[in-house]
Order: sequence, then structure tokens, then C-alpha cells
Amino acid sequence: MTSRTLSILCVSVLVSWCAVPIMGFAEDERNLERGKKIYEKYCLACHGVQGRGDGGVRFDPPVADLTSSEVLTKPNSRLLESIHDGRTNTAMDTWKSKLSDDAIRDVLAYVLTFPR
Ligand code: HEC
Repeated sequence: MTSRTLSILCVSVLVSWCAVPIMGFAEDERNLERGKKIYEKYCLACHGVQGRGDGGVRFDPPVADLTSSEVLTKPNSRLLESIHDGRTNTAMDTWKSKLSDDAIRDVLAYVLTFPR
């Protein structure tokens, strides 16, 4: 094996290794078109067009601002869980019966595109 083939091999191993989704969530592999559709259908009324929690429906505790550091400092796996299972004693419902795990990943990927 030449050193050139060897280095190509090393690079491709490295690339595929890095692309292994963390907790099954690789932001850049998600379907953002689908995420947007889901967001507009199910989430926008509370979370607002760009996720700022200004959708017009008011709750106590208030709707989370999805562009805030409070939310974004949580790991993606934690946010997926919040969408999947909902948040106890808040208006944030569980979505697991309406949305597949894949759909939940797509909608979170879309949420993460909002300007911060
Ligand atoms: C009925 C209103 C309502 C709808 C609809 C709604 N949410 Fe929420 N959401 C909330 C509220 C209220 C909170 C704040 C919960 C809290 O205080 O922990 C929240 C919090 C969140 C959080 C932050 C969770 C965390 O761990 O901090 C995410 C992410 C989120 N919502 C995503 C979504 C997505 C995606 C959808 C659509 C599938 C959605 N929400 C639909 C009301 C809503």
C-alpha cells in the first residue's frame, strides 16, 4: 500500500467516524423541509415563527424561548427528550404519540436553525 492510499484511507475512516450521529441526532443530516412543516403545524402557535415563545398563546409557566441560552445550553439529547416526553406541569405536551422519533429529530433540527 502506498502512503497516499494509506492517507486517503485514514481520512475516510476519520470522516465516517466523525459522522456517526451522537445519540442518533446529526443536525446536518435531518430533513429541514419536513421539520419546518411539522413545526408550523404543531409548534408555531405556542413557540412563534422563530421560536421566541411569542406565538400568541400564553401559559404559566411561559412558553420557552427556543433561541435562549437556557434552552440551547441543554444537550440535543435532552431537548429531544423534552419534545418526546413533554415537560411535567407545563403546557409542553408529550409528542411521542403524534410524531415519530425521526420526525422529532427533524423538528428539533429545524428549531436549531432559528437566529439566536
Ligand atoms: C401548547 C403550547 C406548546 C406547544 C404546542 C409546543 N410547546 Fe414546546 N414548550 C411549551 C412550554 C410552555 C415550554 C416550557 C416548558 C418548561 O417551562 O419547562 C416549552 C418548551 C419547549 C422546549 C424546551 C424544553 C427544555 O427542555 O427546556 C422545546 C425544545 C420545545 N418546547 C419544543 C417544541 C416543539 C418542537 C413543539 C412542536 C412539536 C412544541 N414545543 C410545541 C409550550 C408548547
